[in-house]
Amino acid sequence: MSLAVPTSAEFPVLAREGLVYLDTAATSQTVRPALEAMDRYYETYRASIHRGVYPIAAEATEAYEVARRQVAEFVNSTPGETVFTRNATEAINLVAYSWGRANVGPDDLVLISQMEHHSNLVPWQLLGCRLAYIPMLEDGTLDLDEYDRLLERSPKLVAVTHVSNVVGTINPIAEITRRAHAGGALVLADGAQAVPSLPVDVAELDVDFYAWTGHKAYGPTGIGVLHGKRELLEAMPPFLGGGHMITRVGDFESQWAEPPAKFEAGTMPVAEAIGLGAAVEWLSGIGMENVREHGRDVTAYALERLSEVPGLTIHGSLDPDVRGALVTFVLDYAHPHDVAEILGRQGVCVRAGHHCAQVLMRRLGSPASTRASFAVHATREDVDRMVDALGQVHDIFG
Ligand SMILES: Cc1ncc(COP(=O)(O)O)c(C=O)c1O
Repeated sequence: MSLAVPTSAEFPVLAREGLVYLDTAATSQTVRPALEAMDRYYETYRASIHRGVYPIAAEATEAYEVARRQVAEFVNSTPGETVFTRNATEAINLVAYSWGRANVGPDDLVLISQMEHHSNLVPWQLLGCRLAYIPMLEDGTLDLDEYDRLLERSPKLVAVTHVSNVVGTINPIAEITRRAHAGGALVLADGAQAVPSLPVDVAELDVDFYAWTGHKAYGPTGIGVLHGKRELLEAMPPFLGGGHMITRVGDFESQWAEPPAKFEAGTMPVAEAIGLGAAVEWLSGIGMENVREHGRDVTAYALERLSEVPGLTIHGSLDPDVRGALVTFVLDYAHPHDVAEILGRQGVCVRAGHHCAQVLMRRLGSPASTRASFAVHATREDVDRMVDALGQVHDIFG
């Protein structure tokens, strides 16, 4: 294994006796440098950014803009193409409300996939356009032949997840984008699960919009990111109106600031942006290739161990090379909520439910499942603890 597995020295919560945290795909734990960076802001230079002229206000502004540079660099974007939001959901809604309302009419088509999180599905329903779904094949990959046929219907946008939060599939975003652009469509990729677990290069993917979230990337809650190509952000109308997003306010009309300020109305989550900057610096220090390799290793081990459990079905591919660091499964004798509760009583934290992906759950023919997801701090021993804990589920329900 190429990674020195982080412990409670890096993740204070891991000091809790007996805790096995396997729910990082829902929300990760916060890494100590992020906690410390936020404490420093609150304790030594808390002030309003972009407005105050006194020294600690300048310091706060600088720290916020440094965080933007760190976040941009982390995925090979640029600061001028990096907008802070509250979360991935808000980043996608920003595109739907701003770019979507200006460019997509009721008869226009948006393509999404069957494996989208509700965050990359409901905003397109709200937009009031036509929607079509790229189907998922039995092996958990997207049907790219059907995708080609759908592209012949000239969609305005293809909105697709980079890594599925249920079946774990790593989608070929660069190829999906190449084909979309050849057909005249823009691409939005939902990177909520990808950014914390894989090396992501937004420039190389050539996507038009890329959304992700801090609370799954070892940063705090309340901070998300939207990367958008500069010319698109410049042409888009604002999403929310208020302070900071204007250059001049007249009695009856206003002029907008340049992006990213145009999309950052009101007081932003300053501490959270600074915390996220520290978290991605920490991840860069480890190396995202190593994070991916570690996640692949623990996932491969989990696939192997879970395959031995009688009555257990894994959703998605069994090949760890094509999936992110998570495994979702159902037991034919116990409800996923009971499974998660019994595991929880033994200290093992996993997620149960529809994972905010009801379209996909219908496609899989299962209204709920149990998901274990593997952070940088997850180990093979954690997987063993989960499989041992499943024994108690069998004792009760099997
Ligand atoms: C694939 C995917 N997209 C979007 C989201 C939403 O992220 P957030 O809650 O930060 O808006 C999630 C979170 O579960 C997710 O897994």
